[in-house]
Amino acid sequence: MANAEFGTVFFDEMTFATYDGEKWSETSFVPSDKLPLHPATHVLHYASTCFEGMKAFRAADGKINIFRLDDHVKRMQNSARCLHLPVPDTEQLKAMIVDILAKHRDEVPAFPGSAYIRPTLIGTDQSIGRAAAPTRTAMLYVLISPVGDYFPADAKMRVLLDTEHQRCAPHFGSVKSGGNYASALGLILAAKEKYNTAQVIFAPDGDVQETGAANCLLINDNEVLTKPLSSEFLPGITRDSLLQVAAKLGYKVTERNIQATELIEWIKTGEVALSGTAAVLAPIGEVVYEGETHHVKQGGEPVNAKRLRKYLNDVQQGLEEDSFGWIT
Ligand code: COI
Repeated sequence: MANAEFGTVFFDEMTFATYDGEKWSETSFVPSDKLPLHPATHVLHYASTCFEGMKAFRAADGKINIFRLDDHVKRMQNSARCLHLPVPDTEQLKAMIVDILAKHRDEVPAFPGSAYIRPTLIGTDQSIGRAAAPTRTAMLYVLISPVGDYFPADAKMRVLLDTEHQRCAPHFGSVKSGGNYASALGLILAAKEKYNTAQVIFAPDGDVQETGAANCLLINDNEVLTKPLSSEFLPGITRDSLLQVAAKLGYKVTERNIQATELIEWIKTGEVALSGTAAVLAPIGEVVYEGETHHVKQGGEPVNAKRLRKYLNDVQQGLEEDSFGWIT
């Protein structure tokens, strides 16, 4: 696992359930290396799918801590509703996550590793005719991948601040669905080719939103600033957690729209970082804007981002008291 690419190694089983048009089946444990699907399966043609990303951590006392289980289940149910997919039952999905981790608890790596939890819901009607109609049947499964860092721990990323494009369709940004990631991909690759950037911060018409796979936070010694939730971008649970941690540590927390020009002004002295389950809180070192490279904090250390990240990681590992009630 240590040297494997993020998300390429899995527990050899997963929990699995199907929806037959009327009700969910009982959960079963099945091998995680195959999913027999008819070539006409709805998801393969019409992207009837959503997923979640959360983590479980091995605590110092040996317990396995699942981080914000209820909130991720709720967000998945919301994604399913938006996509007109059968909505997973709350208790069943929670049990599918807890049971697979309990059975394979010895495979949850110690920190800085964790078990990345990927509940996935797909539409399974065997129909290429239902292009403008919802699937009636579905599969739900919970894959688990032992992982390390998604971004190298000490990386200070180079990103493009793109004021021309939107990550995905504006009414669909809050849905955690593969199509949103696919729609950003070409723009991320084009930026990499042209500017040698690792990520793109999408700021259509100057309105700073998020990157392809993470939210965006501005941080300085006193304040954490980010865009208020809207349908246009993902309501990150790590984002929300970091805002709560920041408030607890005495930072002023502000949610308001941010202009690209303000971000460029902010990073003369402040920090900018990307938050997400996989990203945690990953500092940015350089921002390319209108063809020019801006060095965050003139190359200074992202001390505030590191402080927030450490506090969050300590709660996740049980080293800091879980005063927020986030751990299952
Ligand atoms: C997550 O952070 O959970 C995501 O879904 C992003 C993905 C790049 C792993």
